[in-house]
Amino acid sequence: MENLIFTNEQKIFTIVGCGGNRGLAHLDMRKQIEAASKKVQLEYMISLPGSYILSYSAFPDVYSKLTTSFSYKKIEQIAKAIQSDSDPISLKTGMFYTASREAELQKNIASYNEVCQGYTISNSCKHCGICAKVCPTQNITLQNGQVSFGENCQQCMAYIQWCPQRAIDYKGKASSRKRYHHINISLKDMTQYNA
Ligand SMILES: Cc1cc2nc3c(=O)[nH]c(=O)nc-3n(C[C@H](O)[C@H](O)[C@H](O)COP(=O)(O)O)c2cc1C
Ligand code: SF4
Repeated sequence: MENLIFTNEQKIFTIVGCGGNRGLAHLDMRKQIEAASKKVQLEYMISLPGSYILSYSAFPDVYSKLTTSFSYKKIEQIAKAIQSDSDPISLKTGMFYTASREAELQKNIASYNEVCQGYTISNSCKHCGICAKVCPTQNITLQNGQVSFGENCQQCMAYIQWCPQRAIDYKGKASSRKRYHHINISLKDMTQYNA
């Protein structure tokens, strides 16, 4: 966000996509934008099915479908509001926000790269390279056919979610958990920018 360039006559809006717990995200973004002497006019949240497989299984398909279809409706509403002259909307912290939980979360985020060094690849790996292709930070490479992790993991979990062999894990947490894929996103969509 520090690298964003704003023009003078720009309507500024922020949208947080999350699994329902937006935390401090809007406040953080507002702070960054105000630091550039600009003002956020509209703030929105879009709920999607949760995807953090190191903490929980993907939700049942029926819930994912429902949540995703609500998200499309919300996007339409947001687009209309942005195009109209609606009054400013300012969101507070999310419903489940507490300072202690936030501190715990920030501690977890700070340790993402350590977590990254703890991923394991089982013998079922077929060396297909899909994990490397879905990784948005090019943090996974195949070296002599072996999967290798770098030090820039953002924990998006795409590699665990999309490995066709369910070969990637972290301390056994994901082994029996249901994988999450957005209902309208295919493996081709996931890999087309990194192929
Ligand atoms: C590393 C990671 C951290 C997450 N943290 C939160 C969170 O703090 N609050 C929340 O509501 N959802 C959280 N989620 C869930 C995702 O935001 C949500 O599942 C996601 O928006 C799904 O759609 P998307 O990946 O297409 O954006 C997290 C997911 C991941 C992978
Ligand atoms: S996606 Fe799975 S099977 Fe393919 S190389 Fe990565 S770990 Fe191995």
